[in-house]
Amino acid sequence: AVLIIDFGSQVTQLIARRVREAGVYSEIHPFQNAAEAFAKLKPKAVILSGGPASVTEENSPRAPDAVFASGVPVFGICYGQQTMAEQLGGKVETGHDREFGRAFLSIETSSPLFDGAWAPGERHQVWMSHGDRVTRLPEGFKVIATSQNAPFAAVADEKRHFYAVQFHPEVVHTPDGAKLIANFVHKIAGLKSDWTMSAYRREMIAKIRRQVGKGRVICGLSGGVDSAVAAVLIHEAIGEQLTCVFVDHGLMRLGEADEVVGLFRDHYNIPLVHVDASEQFLKALEGVSDPETKRKTIGKHFIDVFEAEAKKIGGAEFLAQGTLYPDVIESVSFTGGPSVTIKSHHNVGGLPERMNMKLVEPLRELFKDEVRALGRELGLPEAFVGRHPFPGPGLAIRIPGEITREKLEILRKADAVYLDEIRRAGLYDAIWQAFAVLLPVRTVGVMGDGRTYDHVLGLRAVTSVDGMTADFYHFDMAFLGRVATRIINEVRGVNRVVYDVTSKPPGTIEWE
Ligand code: XMP
Repeated sequence: AVLIIDFGSQVTQLIARRVREAGVYSEIHPFQNAAEAFAKLKPKAVILSGGPASVTEENSPRAPDAVFASGVPVFGICYGQQTMAEQLGGKVETGHDREFGRAFLSIETSSPLFDGAWAPGERHQVWMSHGDRVTRLPEGFKVIATSQNAPFAAVADEKRHFYAVQFHPEVVHTPDGAKLIANFVHKIAGLKSDWTMSAYRREMIAKIRRQVGKGRVICGLSGGVDSAVAAVLIHEAIGEQLTCVFVDHGLMRLGEADEVVGLFRDHYNIPLVHVDASEQFLKALEGVSDPETKRKTIGKHFIDVFEAEAKKIGGAEFLAQGTLYPDVIESVSFTGGPSVTIKSHHNVGGLPERMNMKLVEPLRELFKDEVRALGRELGLPEAFVGRHPFPGPGLAIRIPGEITREKLEILRKADAVYLDEIRRAGLYDAIWQAFAVLLPVRTVGVMGDGRTYDHVLGLRAVTSVDGMTADFYHFDMAFLGRVATRIINEVRGVNRVVYDVTSKPPGTIEWE
């Protein structure tokens, strides 16, 4: 195994992900528990993460000395490099030229770390983010690459198998970074590639069993991939101790509610309570047109309904959620709480405290594409696993202004036509999300010989890797024309179609 010691970087999970991609098992432990974890795990290699502290500050975090004394290969990244240098007798200074963002590395010598990627004399793009830098190397180290502002951008003590870099090899902006991490675990630490999604599945199942014991678990299904994968995994671990609850707020897309119920009840035979609460939600949303009020109203009613169902089921002490790593980005921190909250989208965010339940979150370490891979591993149908994300508040945030049953009907039909065309054109998987938005604007048209005065429909499609930033999808015009014609012909209530060409930022993906 590889032990990743977390010094609080935002991207520590990416290191774990790269190690997983190299087919090797790893565990992340915060630096406070690192000594204990090191003794217990007996790792064959250690990676020191980046972090927000400065080693020049008093009481800044350190790696356990045992790590360097043990003879295992160590790879220090950013802060990890600095603390390594400091702990082994080198020097780190603050306040030189800082480097943030793209930088270019000059490769000075060949190194097992660079094998198959970088050769001496070449220049390669890397991602930097540091204020401090190493200014004197510990004994036994040599420079293997430099950058303009970091003469010790990559260093190595090849005898002791200590490697350290100032840049971040784990992020995509260091295009060859994954290769460097693979080299470290395979070539330098000699670890074999034998860690797969099926191993992850076994590991997670054992972990869920340990956590839950004989307890009862309730899992809210949203219709999306994450909660579905979490539920199937937990069901595999504890069987009938799990009950799923699907709160149908009446804001789902065409056929979606039936699909979820069919999949869970009939295909997987997982106990499922299907609550049709659409009346309650639509009533609560009457007259509401402010986006935040909509979201809050839906969130509140969701919690109410869910809580009432949980009470009926009774006796559950655990609540399962399909929280993914990007939902959390909650790292170890020296000041106490999580370092940064990116979004508080979650519908059930407030549930655990309110209901006094313990959380089971088996996907917390994974990224979306890894959850999809796990879903495939668990035998979820491809069409389900490959689904675009869908927001908790559903179609409510795709109808700017007041929501009515009629508008929901129109939107469902138009959205289904749009997605049907996207699938037929073979574009579904190339797009992160595609959906229609029913605008509260009517315009004049002419159909047959008559005048129409109907809604405008906005179409949106974006590419993205994580939903945090996005670009609008560049359809060809013939395709858009075809979609517009079909929608106007087939969906009563729409007489004009427009395409949204806004990226994120400055737009968001959803309209509300
Ligand atoms: P925005 O609109 O903020 O959306 O660019 C980013 C991603 O998040 C989804 N989204 C939500 N997901 N509950 C969710 O579970 C929500 O309240 C919510 N709001 C937006 C959105 O569809 C996109 O994938």
